Amino acid sequence: MSPDSPIGVFDSGIGGLTVLKEIKARLPHENIIYFGDTARVPYGIKSGETVTRFSREISEYLVGQGVKMLVVACNTASSVALPTLRDNYPLPVIGVLMPGAYAAARATKSERVGVIGTEGTVNSGAYARLIRNIRSGTMVFAHACPLFVPLVEEGRLSGPITRLAAEEYLAPLMLEDIDTLVLGCTHYPLLKETIAGVMGPEVELIDSAFETAREVERVLDKLDMLNKSGAPGNTRYAVSDAPERFKRIGERFLGYEVPEVEKVEL
Ligand code: DGL
Repeated sequence: MSPDSPIGVFDSGIGGLTVLKEIKARLPHENIIYFGDTARVPYGIKSGETVTRFSREISEYLVGQGVKMLVVACNTASSVALPTLRDNYPLPVIGVLMPGAYAAARATKSERVGVIGTEGTVNSGAYARLIRNIRSGTMVFAHACPLFVPLVEEGRLSGPITRLAAEEYLAPLMLEDIDTLVLGCTHYPLLKETIAGVMGPEVELIDSAFETAREVERVLDKLDMLNKSGAPGNTRYAVSDAPERFKRIGERFLGYEVPEVEKVEL
């Protein structure tokens, strides 16, 4: 492992590209391997045990590719699998929850924070635990928004259907009078405008993808493992199924072309 070794980033599918995009914007010289488990997505409705097993299998593959760091770019996997991954691999493992939790704890003035995510993330209670560990007096209200993931994958980032789903899902959080809302799922940053439109300008939205990229930089810098070559970084994309669909929808997530997507058997 050396500074020019790649960073391994993985997700249940396409959503982790929101995290990849932020890492690439922040650290343009890093080489990256992105793995999307498109054969087994969604993780959000599966048990913690199953998601942890999938996360181990993917990490095994990425570590075999010589990565210097693992980024679990999936909120559901981050909420259940991090301890197992940290116990099993002697390299830094970054999840998306901690950076988002810190940002939320810093942002809230009223100490009333909302979290939206998949059923798995919400049921794990992980965000609430982390936020309260950082700022003990904080009340955390978590709510699952299962329709948001398919809406984003269908490209419905705004419009009446998405607006209606957002109004319905967010209504209970509005009643709690929160001043900060964590977008606790990889897909939700793409719905930022719709969510902000429903919540209003008084509620600060926390984008865990952006916060995670900051954490990746901080940890690599501390370990003196940032790629200082000055050359543009290379990104490889791998999936467990349907590379064409990944490429098509992935380009919408990234806003630029995904060159080639490899299909990998784990
Ligand atoms: N990537 C997942 C997350 O951030 C959302 C999609 C899924 O359910 O697998 O929780």
